[in-house]
Amino acid sequence: MTRLLLVGPPGAGKGTQAAILSDTLGIPAISTGDIFRTNVANETPLGIKVKAIMAKGEYVPDDLTNEIVAHRLSEPDAAEGFLLDGYPRTIEQVNELDRSLGKDGHALDVVVLLEADIEDVVARLMKRAIEQGRVDDTEEIIRHRMSVYTEQTAPLIKLFDERNLVVRVDALGAVDNVTDRIVSALAGRGLASA
Ligand code: AP5
Ligand code: MG
Repeated sequence: MTRLLLVGPPGAGKGTQAAILSDTLGIPAISTGDIFRTNVANETPLGIKVKAIMAKGEYVPDDLTNEIVAHRLSEPDAAEGFLLDGYPRTIEQVNELDRSLGKDGHALDVVVLLEADIEDVVARLMKRAIEQGRVDDTEEIIRHRMSVYTEQTAPLIKLFDERNLVVRVDALGAVDNVTDRIVSALAGRGLASA
């Protein structure tokens, strides 16, 4: 049973690695970005609320974000562990996740920090802009997303470090190599024998 977070700047490969690790570890990958994008595409009431915020590269308010994650984590497939991609990203979200896991006597097991230079990940996202056309993948918005990450999410790493949860992984290089690094780092903690 593994409760894992993937953290890192936009473009670090959270979504890419989450999909692979979800298969390897047999736990669901939960991406708040994907959940929001699906709601935007389907023009749900939530999607209508968050569309403009996401297009600007700002964070969705904590109350909305906490609510969708609480709902998703209450589904049966998450009872045996999960992999969170892109949540929590603010201190309020960390506090809420702690509270909701704590109710059942649970807590996070590990935080995988995907480390990369900003210019490398900007280049990746500029490439994805051409391939996928995500609305928040223009250079200006990508750089804004990087600053939002630096201001609001990067400081949380210290808190996870104080809990001795963080494993640091170089996010550059081939996708398979990054996966191998993550799996070895997890194995080093007695988690996730693939
Ligand atoms: P979210 O969807 O989470 O976006 P993000 O954090 O900006 O990250 P990305 O999805 O762009 O990058 P990634 O790290 O997943 O990398 P990926 O694998 O795609 O969030 C979007 C928005 O939703 C936020 O701005 C906010 O508005 C809202 N939101 C989400 N969560 C929230 C929260 N908790 N609170 C408030 N608001 C929230 O890879 C990127 C590209 O690189 C891809 O093209 C990929 O193919 C490629 N790539 C991946 N790995 C490699 C590799 N090793 N080598 C070469 N290319 C690679
Ligand atoms: Mg992603």
